[in-house]
Amino acid sequence: MNTILDFLKRHGFDNSALDAEALIDAFAKEAAAGLAGQPSSLAMIPSYLGVGAEIPADKPVIVVDAGGTNLRVCTVAFGADGKPAISNFSKCAMPGVEREVGAEEFFSFIASRVEPLLPFASDIGFCFSYPAEITPECDGRLIRWSKQIKAPEVVGKFVGAELRRRLVPMGFKGRVSVMNDTVATLLAGVSDGIRRNSSSYVGMILGTGTNTATVVANAAIKKCPGLPQDGSMIINLETGSFAPIPLSDFDKRLHALTLDPGHYNFEKQISGGYLGQLGLVVLKAAAEEGLLTPKAASQIAALPALENRDLDEFCDNPYCDFGALSALELSDDDRRTVQALGEAVYTRASLLSAINIAFSAILSGGGKDPLAPVCINIDGSTYFKTKTADFKSRCEAATRALLERRGIHHRTICIPDSPIIGAAVAGLTAR
Ligand code: BGC
Repeated sequence: MNTILDFLKRHGFDNSALDAEALIDAFAKEAAAGLAGQPSSLAMIPSYLGVGAEIPADKPVIVVDAGGTNLRVCTVAFGADGKPAISNFSKCAMPGVEREVGAEEFFSFIASRVEPLLPFASDIGFCFSYPAEITPECDGRLIRWSKQIKAPEVVGKFVGAELRRRLVPMGFKGRVSVMNDTVATLLAGVSDGIRRNSSSYVGMILGTGTNTATVVANAAIKKCPGLPQDGSMIINLETGSFAPIPLSDFDKRLHALTLDPGHYNFEKQISGGYLGQLGLVVLKAAAEEGLLTPKAASQIAALPALENRDLDEFCDNPYCDFGALSALELSDDDRRTVQALGEAVYTRASLLSAINIAFSAILSGGGKDPLAPVCINIDGSTYFKTKTADFKSRCEAATRALLERRGIHHRTICIPDSPIIGAAVAGLTAR
């Protein structure tokens, strides 16, 4: 019988076989290797930022937030009460999303967006949401692009220095501090976390890409032996590139359609930049293997692309009038099949996200006392907006189960505009 479950299992896409504990063990091994500077799919990148720094009041800082799809610039100042105020905000498409750009165009474009803000502040916090090795002075050297950005000349460049070089002729004299968006998100959670007497922190992003950051004792960062051994710092785990995870036939087909096949295995199963495309790969296979009516099968085979939002809206309401799938002529059986297949894709993504969050909280070492939980600040549209499979509540329940059985207490928070707020904290406090 060609049931949906048989079809999924036949292709190695079996959510009931997902072994959370084995994955947490695998995460722990990769993290230990990454912290020791040994080969690992987790880069475990030191941020050279801690969580205790005092934020100066009423001192504006420029923030550049280079995210997955958008480039945002603004200024931020914290009041004496610690509350941030965002001003001079503007946003545009991230260069390299639509078409390939060279390094000169990439940095000059960002500088042109920053130039109007130069009269308002002297320093810049640069939230750079890609894998970048951070120097002790908080510059960042791009290791490789993720999220399908097309700007190959930027790889290997120090993004802070490159931006600064283009701003100096415009009158800029300050410093540019670069940090990952998960590090910024963690920092944005700190003031709330302090009120909760938090024992440690996690920053998590689930948007176009995915990743977590957490606080690690310097003594455990074996690859940086010169650090003060009694301190700690925020580490960008780069969990999107976690590799020891089973790949279904569909994942392999998706990889073949990306610019970086064989990389970012975890992210390509979870994040908004890929879920629509992954769903379309699944639907096309279902069409080929007779799970849909011939009419639906030929329409789906002809679809060139599928946005994550289109798949999510349809699976949430198969009678919606939004997006590419709602425009197809489908029988009710087709609708049931498409919905069930989409649910499988989003269910897996939400469970894997929970494993990522839980592992990061475990690694933080906090939460052993109910009075001192781990503070987990989460940001990203995929986490908050995905409707299918009760995405967020499923993820929360799975996270809770994984942490409760270990006696780890946690609180999840959501500080609006976390990457911007945290970049401002880093821009004002980095030394
Ligand atoms: C990047 C990470 C980033 C994450 C979330 C991934 O593609 O490699 O550095 O934190 O997306 O934006």
